[in-house]
Amino acid sequence: MFGLFKKNHQPDPFLSSLKTDIHSHLIPGIDDGVKSLEESIKVARGFEDLGYGRIITTPHIYPGVYDNNPTIIRKGFEEVREFYKQEGLDIEISVAAEYFVDEHLLESLKSNQELMTFGNNLILLETGFYEPPMIFDEVIFLLRSRQITPVFAHPERYVYIQNKPELAKSYLEKGMLFQLNFLSLSGYYSGKAKNIAIDFLKSGYYSLIGSDCHKPLQLELLKAPLPKKVIELLSQHSFMNSGLE
Ligand SMILES: [Fe+2]
Repeated sequence: MFGLFKKNHQPDPFLSSLKTDIHSHLIPGIDDGVKSLEESIKVARGFEDLGYGRIITTPHIYPGVYDNNPTIIRKGFEEVREFYKQEGLDIEISVAAEYFVDEHLLESLKSNQELMTFGNNLILLETGFYEPPMIFDEVIFLLRSRQITPVFAHPERYVYIQNKPELAKSYLEKGMLFQLNFLSLSGYYSGKAKNIAIDFLKSGYYSLIGSDCHKPLQLELLKAPLPKKVIELLSQHSFMNSGLE
């Protein structure tokens, strides 16, 4: 894995064309992301080096695992933002969340609670790896009836999608957007995730790209060169990242 990148390697300009990263875990202590403010700023500096101008960080909201809510997230975010400012970092940072699709999210929707969105009312969603949530359709429907567009984080990583890729089309038809994890393309998660990512990319399924960066190592891996064919494939599609509000 470490052999993938060489010293002084120039990252592909494709990444800088995205301008905004929309998926990361850069608030220490509230999920499985960075462990400290120092790690957080190391990642943020890495994004700057890659040519990004903005990071939208998205801590997990996963009741029972990461018991976060907008108040906890905003408090942590302010500490991160203040630290970046003190350290003189130029990159812009804002905050949303990655919501686990479960009964709590359904309840939040039914009781009209505040949801942490980004861009033009987009919400990042994740699910368990092995089974699609029974309430998925209901959640998608309720979000859309609130004019919120669900963004499915890294569909290529779910075992239930890998086993039945045709499910993807039905989710897109229901009004979800797909977000590719950039590291899926290099096989970081698994060969299966990589193959599905390439297939979905060829089919034009992805609207957004994210790093899903949890630690400085993953940021380093983003700099690893991808095969020319993959970069060409990426360049044939346009992504919403650069035009986000
Ligand atoms: Fe994530």
